[in-house]
Amino acid sequence: MFHDFIEDELSRQSIFRAEEFLSIDYVPEHLPHREEELRTLLRGFKTLISAPGRTSPRFVIEGPVGTGKTAVAKRFSEELVTAARKRGVRLHGIHINCRVNKSPFLVYLRVLREFRPDFPRRGHSPEELLQIILDTLDEQDRYVLLILDEFDYFIINPRGQEILYALTRLVDDRLNEQQRISLLLIGRDLQSSLGTLDYSTLSTLQHNSLRFQKYSAVALYDILHERVALAFQDGVVLDDTLHLICDIAAEYGDARYAIELLCRAGKQAEQVGSDYVVPEFVRKAKADTHPELRKEVFESLPLHNKLLLLAAARQLRGVQDAYVTMGDVEDMYRTVCEEYNQAPRAHTQIWEWVQDFAAHGILDTKKSGPGQRGQTTLIGLSDLPAEMLEQFLLQLIEE
Ligand SMILES: Nc1ncnc2c1ncn2[C@@H]1O[C@H](COP(=O)(O)OP(=O)(O)OP(=O)(O)O)[C@@H](O)[C@H]1O
Ligand SMILES: [Mg+2]
Repeated sequence: MFHDFIEDELSRQSIFRAEEFLSIDYVPEHLPHREEELRTLLRGFKTLISAPGRTSPRFVIEGPVGTGKTAVAKRFSEELVTAARKRGVRLHGIHINCRVNKSPFLVYLRVLREFRPDFPRRGHSPEELLQIILDTLDEQDRYVLLILDEFDYFIINPRGQEILYALTRLVDDRLNEQQRISLLLIGRDLQSSLGTLDYSTLSTLQHNSLRFQKYSAVALYDILHERVALAFQDGVVLDDTLHLICDIAAEYGDARYAIELLCRAGKQAEQVGSDYVVPEFVRKAKADTHPELRKEVFESLPLHNKLLLLAAARQLRGVQDAYVTMGDVEDMYRTVCEEYNQAPRAHTQIWEWVQDFAAHGILDTKKSGPGQRGQTTLIGLSDLPAEMLEQFLLQLIEE
């Protein structure tokens, strides 16, 4: 009976206690296996509190996907700001994702709006905005810890590098004044991109760099264990299930992937009405997702970037080879555009996007060898199955 069914569903206790603790935005109070890194940061920035305005520390955090860079930076910033407040220092931690705020102008605007929320978008150059920020900070006697996250998205373009020059120059220009802005740069592999900067910019940063290592299965277990206690009812996630997740995710050392597997396995269990999250749900979850398919990254892409990726995935799915040519992908892109009633963009634009995807590790590119006619760019995918990428994009485009 339908009535019984409803009563049954309503009386059923969810296996989740609080699912929000599995969300990617949640930053836990305690970050197992990153205590040492947090301490190093606090040591590096403590002059912001003990001698405000005298120095402007700069630090770089680097490391592979899902190794806790963002989580550590956010937790660190919150603790530093709280400690500063207690001592009467007006310090503001501002976390900016460079994947979303793609230019120095947008970064400055975001900083300025922290203090002047209604500041208009139009009418000022980036340089002017920076000056207004400094004037505002001087007037109100405030300090900023500026965290530029996913900075690799930024540094590959010359405008991205400008912001580093501008912010490092501030230190020299204001030698006898209060230093207002300190920097924490975060990225997967900044050293190689920073290598193109001049020595003075580089040397100040290289001295203060922290490299986060991939998490081992043991570390992942400690991380997940705390998350399970927050997110699930007692005892519903079997220990074997946790170990399986950790073994799978340890291949990448990626805590985000581990948490995603846990979350998906939990949802599977809930969906079929199981009282326990058993290992089989993890195997299913693993087949449905891949550590490189980060929804938040793909979601923010403009439609045509998605269409181009979809074209690459389709082209790659149809062939035996690991790589396809740029020309073939472009042809497929035009077909895909037709399908979606979109006017295709020009070659130069597409070319830029491909470079962008390659820089961010979404696509692999290489030059064709001498065997092929002429020299052409070849496009591939690292270890992400083309079909999975295709399905994932189709879903995103439909939404
Ligand atoms: N030591 C830890 N303890 C608890 N949770 C962690 C820890 N490290 C990472 N996490 C969690 O794992 C997820 C991924 O971590 P985070 O976003 O900090 O990775 P990241 O290094 O910034 O990755 P990316 O390079 O993709 O930006 C987040 O949900 C975060 O809360
Ligand atoms: Mg991050």
